[in-house]
Amino acid sequence: MRILIAASEAAPLAKTGGLGDVVGALPSALQEVGCEVSLVIPAYRNALEKAEAPAVVTKGIPVKLGPRNLSADVLVTEVNPGIPIYLVRRDEFFDRSEIYGTAEGEYFDSRERFIFFSRSIPLLCRALRYDPDVILANDWQTGLLMALLHEGTLPGTAGVFTIHNLGYQGLVPPEHISFIGLPNEYYRMEGLEFYGQMSLLKAGIVFAHAVTTVSPTYAEEIQTHEFGCGFDGLLRSMKDRLFGILNGIDEKEWDPAKDVHLHAPYSRQDLSGKKQCKNALLKELGLPMRLMNGPLLGMVSRLVSQKGCELLLEAAEKLFALDVGLVLLGSGEVKYEKAFSGLQDSHQDRFRFIKGFDEPLAHKIYGGSDIMLVPSLYEPCGLTQMYALRYGSIPVVRATGGLNDTVQDPKERRFPGTGFKFRDFDAGSLLAAIERANTVYKDKDYWQAMMREGMGQDFSWRKAAKQYLEVFERAIKRMGGVHK
Ligand code: ADP
Ligand code: GLC
Repeated sequence: MRILIAASEAAPLAKTGGLGDVVGALPSALQEVGCEVSLVIPAYRNALEKAEAPAVVTKGIPVKLGPRNLSADVLVTEVNPGIPIYLVRRDEFFDRSEIYGTAEGEYFDSRERFIFFSRSIPLLCRALRYDPDVILANDWQTGLLMALLHEGTLPGTAGVFTIHNLGYQGLVPPEHISFIGLPNEYYRMEGLEFYGQMSLLKAGIVFAHAVTTVSPTYAEEIQTHEFGCGFDGLLRSMKDRLFGILNGIDEKEWDPAKDVHLHAPYSRQDLSGKKQCKNALLKELGLPMRLMNGPLLGMVSRLVSQKGCELLLEAAEKLFALDVGLVLLGSGEVKYEKAFSGLQDSHQDRFRFIKGFDEPLAHKIYGGSDIMLVPSLYEPCGLTQMYALRYGSIPVVRATGGLNDTVQDPKERRFPGTGFKFRDFDAGSLLAAIERANTVYKDKDYWQAMMREGMGQDFSWRKAAKQYLEVFERAIKRMGGVHK
């Protein structure tokens, strides 16, 4: 089966969060279950810099964007053998320092950029005489593709759409509708209309032959008013083509026994290196060595309200009274960056906030911490808790979305458990979970049993790849086609 995956991120070329990790890893897993996979992402400045020998495959594809007749060039590169990555190049849109925007906010033309990208994809397929059985699009940036397939731009290609995060809806104000370039009948409630605007995410949901999201719990949650972001009614009405498939992790990239970023390797069988990793992390960040005696908490996150930043800020004073250390790596909204910097000033002896996006440091934090915090308001899947588990750092998570599916609390009577969960979204509940972790931490044998249990979990992509394959088959059937 030939699969084209379209997305706004794909690690290692372009990544701001979990979407990049997933799109980077899923292709190889699909290849292993027999698919022929290609990827297409925008040719961001950084992606072009990182790409190995990108070669031009076609130039001057004509892409209409509202009143403008624009063109795109297409380059190809490879990260994994046999998986071409197409890069859609138009420097006006993508030759910028960031993927979506800067600390000041999203780029002013973010809708135009991704409408342009989405519109270029069927044209690219035609130019390259490439005829995929399925296009798998991801999040609002590529949602429009599903409507374009519905329009018949690539007959014989089915559309599957993955929701990684319903909180980002790709809203297009009515005055910019002409950029989308669809016939008028799409601008209705049964189409892209969403509370007086157009939603590119909705285009993906409505017109895909099948929709997936990234954990079974999130697939249920988004059908409720609390988590549905206004889409719950629509999602309930299409239950029969909505599937929750838990993300995997790239087990080669995330392996404490082979991680080049770690000070010392360690494994489930031999945990001794982990202590050295903690020591090295404290040293690197200039934190006092006495923090070796208690648990070191870590958090690696986008700093947005989804991730529970408020909870952590509110819990901080009481948390530090527990005599623990805390390391936070993240970037995002300025208000949170300021608040965490302020907190660091008054708690130099136990807290470091490292502002920015730093892949090597992220690895060192998973390796060097004892506990990872993921206090999210909602979490479609979440990868950080899975990396934490793999690195023997016990996750403390809110029981929502994929966090609920991947972490087992000893309270759930599963011996020994892999982490600690709390339900209510308030600082007190987060603190109570951390306190429970802190108590168990003192029982070294039990703690190590939890670490080993977590490190032994199977988060490989194999299972997910098979589930995607089934969804692809269903989508092809729904389209009324057969795969080539
Ligand atoms: P989301 O996609 O919502 O941000 P996930 O948990 O799915 O959340 O994925 C986050 C990914 O981004 C993980 O790979 C995590 O390690 C990484 N990450 C987040 N913030 C940073 C940062 N500041 N520096 C390095 N990596 C980060
Ligand atoms: C989104 C979600 C996150 C998920 C990631 C990859 O960014 O916020 O929970 O893990 O996508 O699917």
